[in-house]
Formats: sequence, C-alpha cells, structure tokens
Amino acid sequence: MSLPVIILGAGGHAKVLIDTLLTSSAVIAGIVDPIPALTGSKVLGVPVLGADDIVTEFPPAEVLLVNGLGSAGLPLRRQQIFERFKGMGYHFATVIHPSAVVAPDVELGEGVQIMACSVIQPGSCIGCNTIINTRASVDHDCEIGDHVHIAPGVTVSGGVKVGDGTHIGVGATILQGMEIAGHCLVAAGAVVVTNVTEGTTVKGIPARVSAR
Ligand SMILES: CC(C)(COP(=O)(O)OP(=O)(O)OC[C@H]1O[C@@H](n2cnc3c(N)ncnc32)[C@H](O)[C@@H]1OP(=O)(O)O)[C@@H](O)C(=O)NCCC(=O)NCCS
Repeated sequence: MSLPVIILGAGGHAKVLIDTLLTSSAVIAGIVDPIPALTGSKVLGVPVLGADDIVTEFPPAEVLLVNGLGSAGLPLRRQQIFERFKGMGYHFATVIHPSAVVAPDVELGEGVQIMACSVIQPGSCIGCNTIINTRASVDHDCEIGDHVHIAPGVTVSGGVKVGDGTHIGVGATILQGMEIAGHCLVAAGAVVVTNVTEGTTVKGIPARVSAR
C-alpha cells in the first residue's frame, strides 16, 4: 500500500482488518473512533487517535482510509461513513488477506475487504465497500453490489446477484442463480432457494420471508 492507512472504528472488525494489514507492508497511521474513552488506547498496538474528525488533519492525497465498521444486520452505518468520507475527497484501500483466493478476472470496487480464507471465483464482481468475510465463498459469475456484507462462512453459489446494502448472515447458503435485491437481511444459517425482493428479511431452511 503506497500511502499510510487510517482505520475508521476500533471494534472487532477493525481488529481483524489490522491483523490483515499487518501481514503486508502497510503503514497504519492510527484508528479513529467517536467513543471518547478509547482515545489513547491501542488495538493490536495501533493507537486510537481520537474521533472521526481527526481524519481531516490528514489531506486526502496523503492517506488511504479503511472502513473498520462491521455489521451483524443491515450495514447502513458502514455505508454512511464510507459516503461521508468519499464526499470529503478521501479514498478507501482495498484489503485482501494473503490466504484469500481471488480469481484474476474478478472485478473489485473501491474499499472492498476480502478476509482470511475466503474464495472468489472467475467472472464475479464485488461492489464498493463490500466485505467478503472470513471463510466465505463467492462462486463463478456472481454480481455482488456496493455496501454488502457477506458474513463469515457464507456460501454463495454461481450466478447469484446481490443488491446494494444487503447483509447475508453468518453461515447462510445461496443457491445458484438466485437474485437477492438490495437492503435485504438473510438470517444466519438460512438457505435461500427463491429470489428475495428489495428490503426483505428471510430466515430458515428453506428461507422464508420474516417480519423485521
Ligand atoms: C435474523 C436476525 C437478524 C434476527 O435478529 P433479531 O431480530 O434480534 O431476532 P431475535 O433474536 O429477537 O429472534 C426473533 C425470532 O427469530 C428467530 N431467529 C433468530 N435468528 C434466526 C435465524 N438466524 N434463523 C432462524 N430463526 C432465527 C428466533 O429464534 C426468534 O424466534 P421466536 O420469535 O419464535 O422466539 C439474527 O438472528 C441474525 O441471523 N443475524 C445475522 C448475524 C450475522 O450475520 N452476524 C455476522 C457478524 S460478522
């Protein structure tokens, strides 16, 4: 990574990202987090510099940002912080763990995070600010939108489409060719065997629509 990195957020997802970044030659300038009590503390040896506004002390051309917010449901806050800093002219680093397998033709948007032991097969594209989390797999010819979270251990079969801002819960399975629209929540462990419409929560095996 050519520029120093600032991590947004000091929680669990940020910790995993720092561990990933430390496997490369990345220079981590620090972490920002709005919780005042965290200022001055360290995560894996990286200092928390202060609240988000500290970022503005670094000109956009001199740093790259890494979105350290994770999600256990809809990844809205993650999208908001990405859009806020993009609007201020900052750029987000793409983070790929060295153990991940990413086919050479896969298209990755800005700020994509591909965590340890995940696999992305040929013909797939992954939108901006999307997480492919630990040990998840995205098979051939998938279209994964912006601000999506594919949680740990998810299996996405070939030819699947996932719309912007959707969360696929830990351990879920998506059958081949399914279309999951934007801003949907697929519960942990669900098996998706039919298409899912915009803004819907689905749970269970087979996955059925559930009231939020
Ligand atoms: C689906 C989910 C969002 C529901 O959360 P919630 O609204 O807080 O739901 P609750 O825990 O109050 O449970 C509500 C009901 O749904 C059921 N339920 C919860 N999660 C479920 C799941 N994954 N599959 C099936 N049923 C589930 C509960 O048993 C409960 O049923 P009941 O009303 O018959 O007692 C959540 O359980 C989930 O799967 N989140 C994804 C977590 C994830 O991906 N984490 C990744 C972190 S990196």
